Amino acid sequence: MILHLSDLHFGTEKQECVQAIQAFCREHRPEAVVVSGDITQRARWYQFHACKQFLDSLQLPYLIIPGNHDIPLYNVWKRIFHPFSYYQAHFGQTENLLETEHFYVIGINTIRRRHHTRGALSLEQIQKIDQKLQAVSSQKLKIIVAHQPFYVTHYDRRGIKDCPRLAKIALEAWAKHGLYALLHGHLHHAAVYDLNKAFGLELAQPIYDVHAGTATSYRLHQGQPNSFNVIHSNGTIEEYVFNSVKGCFEFKQDLMNKSSK
Ligand SMILES: [Fe+2]
Repeated sequence: MILHLSDLHFGTEKQECVQAIQAFCREHRPEAVVVSGDITQRARWYQFHACKQFLDSLQLPYLIIPGNHDIPLYNVWKRIFHPFSYYQAHFGQTENLLETEHFYVIGINTIRRRHHTRGALSLEQIQKIDQKLQAVSSQKLKIIVAHQPFYVTHYDRRGIKDCPRLAKIALEAWAKHGLYALLHGHLHHAAVYDLNKAFGLELAQPIYDVHAGTATSYRLHQGQPNSFNVIHSNGTIEEYVFNSVKGCFEFKQDLMNKSSK
């Protein structure tokens, strides 16, 4: 299994959630941890440092991408000339690959200094990822991680403006080479959608758009609890939510059973 965390927002983190994730990882030993951006609240050095210490403490391979909160908002000079410098000082490149026994995960950086919250994809990114998907064995579940969702429905209309504009073009290319799912954060609300139906791609198989809640932040949206997702090697996608009385994350639901257009 892989553990899908998102929107950790260090600087606004709840220590009880941080400790509960550490306990979950000790008990279940996921193959890897995937973090779909917004790891800090305001892209401060100490927030990146705290996030790095947390991820290192899990003692598991992890793949991380930046979110819109991970570049400076108020420091205009830094935002224009060195938007990812603190991120890169802690985590290296903004786009990485991670391969495990059952999964092949590709991270995409959809954050642009000229956009406040909207995601962006370039044709060059789409092509590079397409080549990577072609090159990997079809035995593994092929997963892409991008901060902003590719599809949003009734539950959070404010997210529609943030979906990358080239999402459909990207999916038409990637679908030919066995893409299984895209993992996202941004909206702090767990959900799964079938992009095949949503975009009318007419594929034989679904492609899942997997949205995760905030795993650790007290910045909860619309009364949603702190949560994370687990993706099993058989493709099942589950949501776990934080139980503040017990101080642990508990299974809530199989998100695939709730997936819809
Ligand atoms: Fe975000």
